[in-house]
Amino acid sequence: MSFVPGLEQVVVAETEVSFVDGENGRLVYRGEWAKDLSEGHSFEEVAYLLWNGHLPSAAELEVSQAVWSQQRELPQEIQAVLDAIPHETGMMSVLRTAVSALESQAYAYPPTVEQAAAITMKLPTIIAYRYHRLKGTTPVASRSDLGHTANYLYMLRGVEPSPVHVRALEAYLILLMEHGMNSSTFAARVIASTRSDIVSSLTGAIGALKGPLHGGAPSHVMNMLRGIGTKDQTEAWIRNKLESDGRLMGFGHRVYKTTDPRAVALRELALRLSASDPWLELAVHVEEVAIRLLEEYKPGKKLYTNVEFYAAAVMNAIEFEEELFTPTFAVTRTVGWSAHIIEAAQGRLIYPDAAYIGKLPAAAAGATTP
Ligand code: SDX
Repeated sequence: MSFVPGLEQVVVAETEVSFVDGENGRLVYRGEWAKDLSEGHSFEEVAYLLWNGHLPSAAELEVSQAVWSQQRELPQEIQAVLDAIPHETGMMSVLRTAVSALESQAYAYPPTVEQAAAITMKLPTIIAYRYHRLKGTTPVASRSDLGHTANYLYMLRGVEPSPVHVRALEAYLILLMEHGMNSSTFAARVIASTRSDIVSSLTGAIGALKGPLHGGAPSHVMNMLRGIGTKDQTEAWIRNKLESDGRLMGFGHRVYKTTDPRAVALRELALRLSASDPWLELAVHVEEVAIRLLEEYKPGKKLYTNVEFYAAAVMNAIEFEEELFTPTFAVTRTVGWSAHIIEAAQGRLIYPDAAYIGKLPAAAAGATTP
């Protein structure tokens, strides 16, 4: 038994939730192609699939939508928690705190689809409520006649969102809803395997997603593109970064050894959204130069564009502020996390081993060495 840094390619679970085909750059949710789902289904339909193992019938969808749209409101106590958190606290920390405050008997072990849905439906409301309080504007009540995605945009902006923005955000939310054994999902599964409650598992997952090597990359992609500035600055800027052993945000992936299929889908979406956008034109040029230079500086490492690169482009195109990027990632990944939490809660306690490389105590007389 040997130590594997980062658990790379170590199989830690069997799952029916999704398949991340790193060699061929393909992503499957419960037997369906994720890219196809992002082009022709709603947030609610794909959440139903991930939680229940099959796409809903028309009747199942109607019942789910009716129940779920009633679960968006925040209890008064949660609003009070949100108001008590200092204004300088970042939105991911706010989200982690608000979700953990949801703890109540309603979310006791064992985790269920009903619990998962009840929490998932509240995340957009938590974000929108905090967003308005920080701006000094009045939080907007959710509208049960709007779907999950449209309602999120409505609560943020206070006006009916454009169908183009709804479609773009919905495709983004579906593409990022689930992704196998990434760090935040693994964190959630470890907590769920102890027979703890779903709120504790989701709180741990949000903490993991906050990290810049995981879910926090889109803001860094924006900073990189701002730093590069123009097409003719691109090559020099990237060379300088790679020579100072920096990381190019939005490139590389633990599993995909070819382009991340979500990056491909989001790239097409971003180009459809704003082909004439000079910012997007720069992004496409940076991608091309970066992949060429990554091969030059890191030959054979197979470093390609990952989901975060074009997630930043789509977020930018629907005019989301950067503080909303990773929280919006959490809005949708709560579905994937909770599907895994329900699966892991039935499984064996996750308790791996460690190789002790510290020093041993001096052997005292009669002492037994560890
Ligand atoms: C995600 O859906 C989700 O759950 C989201 C997500 C997912 O699963 O898809 O979790 C999101 O994983 C996308 C990644 C978002 N993060 C970034 O874009 C940050 C930049 N990328 C990296 O830091 C890196 O590529 C990781 C963290 C994503 C993966 O790193 P690994 O698998 O641990 O690879 P590594 O750090 O061991 O690097 C291997 C080699 C190294 O070179 P050497 O030291 O061996 O010479 O590749 C190099 C690294 O220096 N390398 C990079 C690089 N990524 C790896 N060099 C420059 N730029 C990069 N981005």
